Amino acid sequence: MKGSVHAAARGYACTNMREKIKEILRAVLKEGGYFEDGAAYGGPLEVFVPEKAEFGHYSTNVAMRIPGGGTPLARAEAIAKAAGAAAPAGFFEKTEAAAPGFVNFWLSPETVRGEFARVAREKRFGRNGSGAGAAAIVEYSSVNIAKPFHLGHLRNTVLGAALANILEANGYRVIRWNYLGDWGTQFGKLIAAYKQWGDRRIVRKNPIEALQKLYVRFHAAAAEDPELEARARDEFRKLESGDRENRKLWEWFKEESLAEFKKTYRALGVDFDAWIGESFFEKELRPLAADLAARGIAERSEGALIVRLDEFNLPPVLIEKSDGASLYLTRDIANLRYRLRKYKPAEILYVVGNEQSLAFAQLFAIAKKLGMDSARLAHVKYGLVLGESGKKISTRRGEAVTAAEAMDKAVALARGVVDEKGRGLTERQKDAAARAVGIGALKYANLKENRLTDIVFDWGKMLDLTGDSAPYLQYTYARFASILRKAPKGAARRVSAGATAATAVVPGSEPELALMRKIFEFPDAVAAAGEMHSTSVVANYLYKLAVASNRFYETTPVLGEEDRARRAARLALVAVAARTLRDGQALLGIESPEKI
Ligand code: ARG
Repeated sequence: MKGSVHAAARGYACTNMREKIKEILRAVLKEGGYFEDGAAYGGPLEVFVPEKAEFGHYSTNVAMRIPGGGTPLARAEAIAKAAGAAAPAGFFEKTEAAAPGFVNFWLSPETVRGEFARVAREKRFGRNGSGAGAAAIVEYSSVNIAKPFHLGHLRNTVLGAALANILEANGYRVIRWNYLGDWGTQFGKLIAAYKQWGDRRIVRKNPIEALQKLYVRFHAAAAEDPELEARARDEFRKLESGDRENRKLWEWFKEESLAEFKKTYRALGVDFDAWIGESFFEKELRPLAADLAARGIAERSEGALIVRLDEFNLPPVLIEKSDGASLYLTRDIANLRYRLRKYKPAEILYVVGNEQSLAFAQLFAIAKKLGMDSARLAHVKYGLVLGESGKKISTRRGEAVTAAEAMDKAVALARGVVDEKGRGLTERQKDAAARAVGIGALKYANLKENRLTDIVFDWGKMLDLTGDSAPYLQYTYARFASILRKAPKGAARRVSAGATAATAVVPGSEPELALMRKIFEFPDAVAAAGEMHSTSVVANYLYKLAVASNRFYETTPVLGEEDRARRAARLALVAVAARTLRDGQALLGIESPEKI
């Protein structure tokens, strides 16, 4: 199994310029006696793309990490020289050492053009097989029945959906899982409130709002009348024991809520393979608790059942209350056991806010204790979405609170951008473009930041056609799409086949070569994003790709180029850059309209 994973990964490794440079470096380091299975220096070999052009196209810090006599700079000089000699003739334009001990590499124009021609023909460019088809569960969105789909859930949903796409691009078989909050004592309150004040038509018309109001009303009334809490507990107990009326009400709340949530998911272009929520695990909880007690993992403490996690330096976990009621985390244990048995996943990503960190540390510790350790478990945390004031969102200040409100606002603002730019479009085209741009802008604003940071929606920046925004990426793509549309018939097809050969022989200007080199980084971005569970890696890459694309666009004639071979070569570059932009945006769930 392990062998095949590596074989699959190796099959793809050659698609990656960075890997090629690593291969050369490994050979050099081995020759110099530095390299022993990667153990001779601290951590894996790193080759990166420097921010500044003066530090080369690629760079490594390995000379500062390996042991040996002399200064790091002297070692870097030796490695630079040896790498130049070890590479195939003409591969590098130059290799140089730089203080305090970097080795910098410049690819020759021939290498860049040759690699580009190869990349252009690659059908699955950017994807890799490192997941080797293993299952990966990505749990995200996980909204709560009868509660609003707020901006935190929106961030969660677009983040999880993008990570699922990214894992797929890294060769995993992904299961997208919406772990609905559809169980708990709050349903006793809701049922009690509905029985007292509810109106079927009002719930039908506006399910979440109506149910939320009932819930709020319950709390207000319970503050006056403690009797209500007892009634809610009773209703929940009835629900648990299968009372028909309560069961039906609960199912109906769920159905109405889901119908409303699904409108939001549809507008976001997000979907799931499993809609399995907390209630699904209800039946398993008693036997699970009994099993934990029998195995001596859980113990009684003041009538309740707990699992101690002293050896992990974590507080104990309450598995079952003294009245036999189960808990949130117990459902997660049951869920994990179910997932491991049913899907045998290599990885499970829990996309859940920062504030639940302790619960997940406890869950993962219990998993270890129970030997449920066949999958890599990751709590993919993220920060808050703050109001425009930078503080917690306030309805009173008229800020968008729910996902639907934010989406409406983004689409309305995008319509302004489209009205200004897309003069040749029909009304219907404008509507479609505004949806793609608005939703894309909202998604990108969530995905481009480090996920751990709290974010504020800056609507102006979000929709800025010239800034680090989805509309900027989309506009860049549309520019290229327009060139390809106007190209002589058949040119686009020739682009992927023959014309790329022209690229290999026609000398290119610096903006052309820079764009090609930027394109080569796509597979690196996809792989790193998968390993780090980070969408910002892909977003930042796409921004740089768009910048390189526009520099090319503004400096280099394509259709206006007289020389036929040169024109064909540039068309090929436009086609591949457009494809890379589109594929990258698709990973983030962002559409690429042909016209804006
Ligand atoms: N529904 C929960 C909430 O909105 C999040 C669920 C987190 N996932 C989990 N496996 N516990 O807070």
